[in-house]
Amino acid sequence: MTCIMPIGGNKGGTGKSFIGGNLCIALAKRGKRTLMIDLDLGASNLHTMIGMSLPSGSLSDFINRRVEKLEETVIPTPVPGLFLISGARNDLDASNISYQQKQRLSRAISRLSYDYIILDLGAGTSFNTVDFFMISNTGVFVVIPEPTAIENIYRMVRSLFFRMVKQYAGASDFRTIVSVARERDPGGHADHLDNLLIVFSDLFPEKANFFEKSLENMSFTLVMNQMRDSDNPKLGNLICGVIQKHLGVPVTFLGNIAYNSRVHDSVCNRVPFMDKYPYTQTTTDIRKLSETVIAMSGGNDKDITGGDSTDKIQES
Ligand SMILES: Nc1ncnc2c1ncn2[C@@H]1O[C@H](COP(=O)(O)OP(=O)(O)OP(=O)(O)O)[C@@H](O)[C@H]1O
Ligand SMILES: [Mg+2]
Repeated sequence: MTCIMPIGGNKGGTGKSFIGGNLCIALAKRGKRTLMIDLDLGASNLHTMIGMSLPSGSLSDFINRRVEKLEETVIPTPVPGLFLISGARNDLDASNISYQQKQRLSRAISRLSYDYIILDLGAGTSFNTVDFFMISNTGVFVVIPEPTAIENIYRMVRSLFFRMVKQYAGASDFRTIVSVARERDPGGHADHLDNLLIVFSDLFPEKANFFEKSLENMSFTLVMNQMRDSDNPKLGNLICGVIQKHLGVPVTFLGNIAYNSRVHDSVCNRVPFMDKYPYTQTTTDIRKLSETVIAMSGGNDKDITGGDSTDKIQES
């Protein structure tokens, strides 16, 4: 079965594409047939993270029906077992994708057959980003240990589940649910998922039932990137706890990825970080993340390249 993992986050530059690209390499090196799709439609750069210059095909070819099947836009990468749908040559208006185009693209992605499909999303909570995040129920948030990033992720989770309620309830009933929830609890807990669910079930029981069933399979996860020695290693768990407490949305912490000043250098030189700097804490963390992802999705694990997360760490 294919595991589709969107990688998103409300703030720009946290490392979504860096982690997405390197996680894909780590998964492919563990023998997993992996596809990465650049869904940052207006600012695609995922190819750079895996050391490719301008790829030939583009997602726009499918969106604008120059090719009929999404498979036709898949290109191989230098990493065996890793494939890419790039956005590097997207049309200039790619980010103005219509609702119908988005639906067609989402359906086509869901029909692809790989072990893992990683979706690299743009920053923010635009409808495009939120809708792509909801293609699957195993989305990953990338956060950095700064107060602004943490506030932003809280808002993103709220936008996500509000949009989910809206999709199941319909726009007009959604407005009713939110206003009744706020009337019933003016103390500020109306945004809590449990409170919205109670109102939803009271007013529209059939639709709410359907929604609750889909929530059962939902499992948001969080990765804390750019961790320096001075940062609290438990911050990720704390953030998940705050989101659970105030919004009622379960988020599982997947792990920390260490900051390394050479990431900039590897991006500038278009060389995959994990290949250029295999013996660093950052690479070890990414390998561990790939093991966690595989374990979470119920897959068997093997590293076919010889490297594993117990590699000796050689920092600068
Ligand atoms: N673990 C890390 N250590 C050091 N620097 C990092 C790390 N992760 C990311 N960076 C830095 O952050 C920059 C931005 O990373 P990236 O492009 O992956 O962010 P993004 O979240 O995808 O941004 P956008 O929101 O614009 O798509 C990288 O070029 C790199 O310089
Ligand atoms: Mg990016």
